Amino acid sequence: MLVYPIIYILPAYVANGAPVIFGGGTPIDLNRKFKGRPILGKHKTIRGLIAGLLSGFLIAGVESIFLHYMLVIGILLSIGAMFGDIVGSFIKRRFEVREGNSVPLMDQYMFFVFALLFAFPLGNMPNLFGLVFIVLLTGLLHKTTNMIANRIHVKEVPW
Ligand code: CTP
Ligand code: MG
Repeated sequence: MLVYPIIYILPAYVANGAPVIFGGGTPIDLNRKFKGRPILGKHKTIRGLIAGLLSGFLIAGVESIFLHYMLVIGILLSIGAMFGDIVGSFIKRRFEVREGNSVPLMDQYMFFVFALLFAFPLGNMPNLFGLVFIVLLTGLLHKTTNMIANRIHVKEVPW
């Protein structure tokens, strides 16, 4: 069944996507620097972080109506997704990659890997086949949603 892996990962997807729509304003790092480079950069905003967490929690809440364990798993997936996204930006800034410039694989999968790591202890993960499926789906969705977001002017760059 390909539906279960999608239901499982959905809170992470929504948490990761929401900041693109609702983000902006004050950066999480408050424009502070570390060794002359921004800690996270201007694209990681407090509003985006909160929007990501709350939207992910909302999906977790809805899913938990029919799958009880998805409440806690969904919350962990959301926190993991936002954490991974922040770790990704932190690493990009250390290598002097400017905000929004692309680093293949890391841009697509940092949130995903951390979401799965955070939720892993609670079990109920998709099987290997399901995991491979959502790995491929994540890459595909990242490409298409970012292109659409750019086309409708909610994102500066098409990646
Ligand atoms: N965003 C936000 N707050 C966050 C995460 C994301 O406001 N905590 C918004 C920003 O407008 C950002 C957009 O979502 O430009 C896309 O996020 P992402 O692709 O993760 O960031 P990048 O613009 O690529 O920046 P970075 O180089 O730091 O990854
Ligand atoms: Mg990006």
